[in-house]
Amino acid sequence: MHLPNLQEARSRTKKEVSINRYSCNIEYYVTNKNYLILTYGCQMNVHDSENIKALLESVGYNETTNISDADIIVINTCAIRENAHNKVFGMLGRLKKLKENNPNLIICMCGCMPQEEHISLEIRDKYKYVDIVFGTHNIYQLPQLLKEYTTNQKQIIEVYSIEGNVIEGLPVKRDSQYKAWINIMYGCDKFCTYCIVPFTRGKQRSRLKEDILNEITALKNDGYIEVTLLGQNVNAYGKDLYSSYNLAALLTDVSKIGIKRIRFVTSHPWDFTDEMIDVIAKYDNIMPYIHLPIQSGSNSILKKMGRRYTKEEYIVLFNKIKQKIKNVSISTDIIVGFPNETDKDFEDTLSIVKQLQFDLAYTFIFSKRVSTVAYTLEDSVDLATKKQRLAILNKLVNESALNNNKKYLGKTVDVLIEGYSAKDNKLMGYTDTMKLVNLKGGASLIGKIKKVKITNIKTWSLDGEIDDR
Ligand code: 5AD
Ligand code: SF4
Repeated sequence: MHLPNLQEARSRTKKEVSINRYSCNIEYYVTNKNYLILTYGCQMNVHDSENIKALLESVGYNETTNISDADIIVINTCAIRENAHNKVFGMLGRLKKLKENNPNLIICMCGCMPQEEHISLEIRDKYKYVDIVFGTHNIYQLPQLLKEYTTNQKQIIEVYSIEGNVIEGLPVKRDSQYKAWINIMYGCDKFCTYCIVPFTRGKQRSRLKEDILNEITALKNDGYIEVTLLGQNVNAYGKDLYSSYNLAALLTDVSKIGIKRIRFVTSHPWDFTDEMIDVIAKYDNIMPYIHLPIQSGSNSILKKMGRRYTKEEYIVLFNKIKQKIKNVSISTDIIVGFPNETDKDFEDTLSIVKQLQFDLAYTFIFSKRVSTVAYTLEDSVDLATKKQRLAILNKLVNESALNNNKKYLGKTVDVLIEGYSAKDNKLMGYTDTMKLVNLKGGASLIGKIKKVKITNIKTWSLDGEIDDR
């Protein structure tokens, strides 16, 4: 048993990170058994689940989408806000019943939640039916943990707070044949005062540029059309590894591979340089879409959040991006109800949202995370006020999303068609600017970039039809 320690997770060791190549010499194999993965949270987790799927398949498991057919269920968790926790605990309740009916079912929990000390302790003490718990730093150990569990039939909790080395060459079973997630870095050193990520994902560790470029070249050769470079703070790529090679240089090199669409998330305004904007503007295959979290429009709150920029600096960056990158769309994240946020602070957020007219904004009520600086702050604002503020903000961001979509009406745009949407039998895909488009059409269009004429606009999506001209 190895339990996490959040005190340890806060520390940033000087220890050099080395790059290890994955190889599995564990003798463990199953036949006629199925796995199911439930994934919560961000793209990083979605991509981790693609690695977990491949690890499970490497020991013989087959994927099922029917929960009652599963011999092993892996729940890949998110810790960013309390409601993410609640969803997972709700699901664990369901899994308990499944396990009562099928005692041979193996239940695994992984991802960001077990990295939190109090969660791993709670699982140890109150959720004894969760058989294997591992964290974000030791996904590669899954075959070994499975072997250990089947031998001893005792709950295993193996979670490390100090990040290990960067593991290259983990197997991956990608969810799409056209779009791929590529980690370019792990962890985050920004320590915004509300955020649990630097604790759950460890210190910033960039992957070697050669490993990233080789992975993308192989994907292009396999017919992939789009890659999304992933990191908590991609603009800081390379700072821990190189003296001058940075995101601008990486984007340039990725662009030259010739893959059709390149995206990247998430950007932090602090590390966003003019050079990066110029590179994004220069290459046609770097998509004109930037997710640029602002978090608040109040300088006093931004300071308390430890965001390292003022609203004025954010506006300068925003305008530079808009001026230099043709047709760019910009989305953002906003937190309301940070401790002691005043009416005036909130007004400042509304005012910047009105001014900047984001294409999309993901909005949240502040949620206290154990161990963060903001966890201990006294808070004079009640939940009802925070909910009211969120509703007011949402109304405003929805208006600007719809306004931004108006310019698409009647235009013909390129859409990468990804498949059928879950709720109707329409095809769905995204424009270069990350607008969701729904359209009628046959399966032969899937996996292609098509010209689509926009016939109707909504707040969250556009409707269109294939433009055959
Ligand atoms: N409470 C509310 N929202 C949060 N986010 C991160 N931490 C918290 C928190 N403690 C939001 C930020 C971030 C996004 C991924 O989640 O807006 O950009
Ligand atoms: Fe969290 Fe993003 Fe801040 Fe890192 S940069 S601490 S991931 S909000």
